[in-house]
Amino acid sequence: MNLTTSYLGLRLRNPLIASASPQNAELDHLRWLDDAGIGAVVLPSVFQEQLEAGTNDYASIGAACAEVPEFLAPLDGGPYGLIPESHLALIMRAKAELSVPVIASLNGASASHWTRYAALLEEAGADALELNLYFVPVDPLEPGAAVEQRYLDVLGSVRQAVKIPVAVKMPPYFSSIGNMASRLVKGGADGLVIFNRYLQPDIDLQRLELSSELELSSAREIRLPLLWIALLAGRVEGSLAASGGVESAEQVVKYLLAGADAVMTTAAILREGPGCVHTLLAGLEDWLDTQPVESLEQIRGSMSWLRLKKHDNYVRANYLQLIEGFGSAHRS
Ligand SMILES: Cc1cc2nc3c(=O)[nH]c(=O)nc-3n(C[C@H](O)[C@H](O)[C@H](O)COP(=O)(O)O)c2cc1C
Repeated sequence: MNLTTSYLGLRLRNPLIASASPQNAELDHLRWLDDAGIGAVVLPSVFQEQLEAGTNDYASIGAACAEVPEFLAPLDGGPYGLIPESHLALIMRAKAELSVPVIASLNGASASHWTRYAALLEEAGADALELNLYFVPVDPLEPGAAVEQRYLDVLGSVRQAVKIPVAVKMPPYFSSIGNMASRLVKGGADGLVIFNRYLQPDIDLQRLELSSELELSSAREIRLPLLWIALLAGRVEGSLAASGGVESAEQVVKYLLAGADAVMTTAAILREGPGCVHTLLAGLEDWLDTQPVESLEQIRGSMSWLRLKKHDNYVRANYLQLIEGFGSAHRS
């Protein structure tokens, strides 16, 4: 079965991408993912805060990495302790050793000089760049339009710094997701990751303090990204990667039917190890074998808004039907 796909203009052997996670800072882990058949990998993010706290002398970071082979020595510290130089070394080593595209990731919330670091990621060999725009608009006086502009500004300055494809890992918190998606593409994004997973805090009732335990996603979480992949597929110009809630091949198949060009997973890999890549791909092939097709391309987007004749389940009618159905099923 032909599973090849195109994402951000990159040819992938299959649509499965290991999204950014700390394990992707380890070369052994990246090699295992490659051996298990992953389509591409996203490295852990370099954060705006790390870059602003550092030297800011991006020219000398780049020169040091290019000239001093010791930068390619084993990386120390945890992935989020990775200094920007080590990050560049990670890209170089991953590019030298992996057979699949290596996507670097930048995580920030406002445009300033840190975005120039993107050029170093490109120089180090990254095949593409993922921009994680994680911003919580805590100021009730900040209008939605200003928040949207903030995203476009960061994208604009990263876009100016690099020629490689750029994807935006966007949150689902816009009043018009479709409009924002189109504006991001017009603003220079070659693709969108649907969606960034924001981590909300909880309250610890014993200690009376905020707790922020990181819970891995479950398959229940696919419905929001699934809806938006289906609504956007074929209607915005950039590539679409679905992200969130992959536990088994079932979710991968659903995202592809909705119209995703690629499907990302972190939780499944963190839970089960790189071996799950093989399981997910085998499950995808098994499902495709039940269909009268020879390639993934033939089923992609067949359940998208654009391709379905009947849209009821994607709009308010679905809500009404569900509530009515629930009411009659539970009436005594
Ligand atoms: C421990 C951990 C670390 C992560 N680090 C990053 C990161 O550096 N950059 C990023 O964009 N996303 C990061 N993510 C988010 C994942 O890339 C992914 O978007 C999220 O886990 C949802 O996908 P999933 O349901 O497949 O886990 C991280 C997630 C986890 C669980």
